[in-house]
Amino acid sequence: MQINPQSTQFGATVTNVDLPNLSDDSFREIEQLWWKYAVLLFPDQFLSEKEQFAFSRRFGLLECGLQRSNTPSIARIRNIDKDGNLIPEDHLTRRFNIGNSVWHTDSSYKRVAAKASLLSAYVVPKKGGETEWADMRQACDRLEPGMREWLDDKIAEHHYAFSHAWHGGLDVMKPTDLANLPPVYHPVIQKHPDSDRDVLFVGRHATRILGEDKFSSRTLLRRLTHDGTNLGNTWKHRWSPGDLVIWDNRCVLHRARYAPRDQKRSMLRTTVAGDALVNEWATTAA
Ligand code: OGA
Ligand code: MN
Repeated sequence: MQINPQSTQFGATVTNVDLPNLSDDSFREIEQLWWKYAVLLFPDQFLSEKEQFAFSRRFGLLECGLQRSNTPSIARIRNIDKDGNLIPEDHLTRRFNIGNSVWHTDSSYKRVAAKASLLSAYVVPKKGGETEWADMRQACDRLEPGMREWLDDKIAEHHYAFSHAWHGGLDVMKPTDLANLPPVYHPVIQKHPDSDRDVLFVGRHATRILGEDKFSSRTLLRRLTHDGTNLGNTWKHRWSPGDLVIWDNRCVLHRARYAPRDQKRSMLRTTVAGDALVNEWATTAA
């Protein structure tokens, strides 16, 4: 296994590794690298859906889809249909994915936010369509001390109906699915359980800070997200087919970058569920 760290104190590329056939020792080594670097890129993997499921599952239980379901899901993040034709821009699935272009952490609108996301590339645009990550441990370390102290006991509300409303993302959901996604509460400053570092936990699903004015706290959350992702603590990856990336939703934000509208892009994502105990106490905070 060969490891090439990025120069930004997080993120690394791992080569000479065969993900479908990892020994337990090699898996533990990868898991520890992932705790440290938060984002790992494995080029040239070309995993089948089944292989991506199996590799993801080694990190924990997989999340089910948004639509009420008990089946672990694979999300097809793509702008082409099954015959490979571009889907019209006003189509619901394309509209739904617009939200991915705003800094976020996956499933922070769920009571237990996601632990890991794994995204693999099948068809990639010639221009644009990168994914970008920001290390929110560095963002936390670099908060102005007075702000860091003020935020220490603050709880943010994260709400799917808020973050998906503006780009039409609610229209793909049935009322019963939406009823399953009430507002949830997460501390703004969290301890990353696997590296013991403090994290600034914000992003697009965060709507307000409990006990504070709704609109000024919303503005503050937007500013924390903006400033926290502009510190030279980001990694923008231009995809090649066969790439697989795993990132740690507990300590990085991510976003999709714009691609020209005639460019095809097809990706697969699996999501590893978070650890219920970490957030359990926060459910009573409302
Ligand atoms: C996601 C996501 C980013 C991308 O699948 O959760 O944010 O670049 N994807 O497609
Ligand atoms: Mn995402």
